[in-house]
Amino acid sequence: MIRSLAVDVAGEKITHKAARRNVTVVQHPLVAAKLSVLRAKTTAPEEFRRNLQEISIFLACEASRHWESGTIEVQTPLANCAGTLLQRPIALVPILRAGLGMAEGIQCIMPQANVGHIGLYRDEATLRPVSYYHRLPSNLSEAEVLLLDPMLATGFSACQAVTVLRAAGAQRIQLVCLISCEPGIKQLHHAHPEVPLITAAIDPELDNRGYIVPGLGDAGDRYFGTD
Ligand code: URA
Repeated sequence: MIRSLAVDVAGEKITHKAARRNVTVVQHPLVAAKLSVLRAKTTAPEEFRRNLQEISIFLACEASRHWESGTIEVQTPLANCAGTLLQRPIALVPILRAGLGMAEGIQCIMPQANVGHIGLYRDEATLRPVSYYHRLPSNLSEAEVLLLDPMLATGFSACQAVTVLRAAGAQRIQLVCLISCEPGIKQLHHAHPEVPLITAAIDPELDNRGYIVPGLGDAGDRYFGTD
């Protein structure tokens, strides 16, 4: 079982503060170990890709913990027994481009999910998101929506993406990020306090270019092997 507890990157408990703010930090030794691989600057893109995909599965498990389910009858080779059926469609919505890596992993355990895309790039001068593309599933208003972005830095991109999803009818949105930081969490919960955040770590700060410190660098560049 994945224990979820709000714990920062140094292991210091911040349970109450984070829980009050609708933030869940997933605490699991495999998550912690994979996160360390992702942080290390010596990790090659191939290994980075695999670890981002795998760790995203753990985050998605936590995000889906309270999804509505119904009971069905299942026939095993030996007898009938009670089974479980998810009640709602699933939409995975990666923010391009680094969110694609998370969607890739999560699709292994949620192959029935529809996948939408939101294209935002960050203007390096203002750090504000500029929207250039979105294409979303038509059943968003019914769906459990996981908005995917590895890094919650300033929070502006995530907030813009939530606004796009809301305008398209999404009702049940959760933001799933690998590493979050305080300014981003504050921004998210200022603009969209109802959106839960599921994350593997909360890092202390942003540098003057808007990168999370210690973070892992540019998630998209590390995933795709660009720089
Ligand atoms: N985006 C990244 O890829 N990394 C950061 O540290 C911040 C935003």
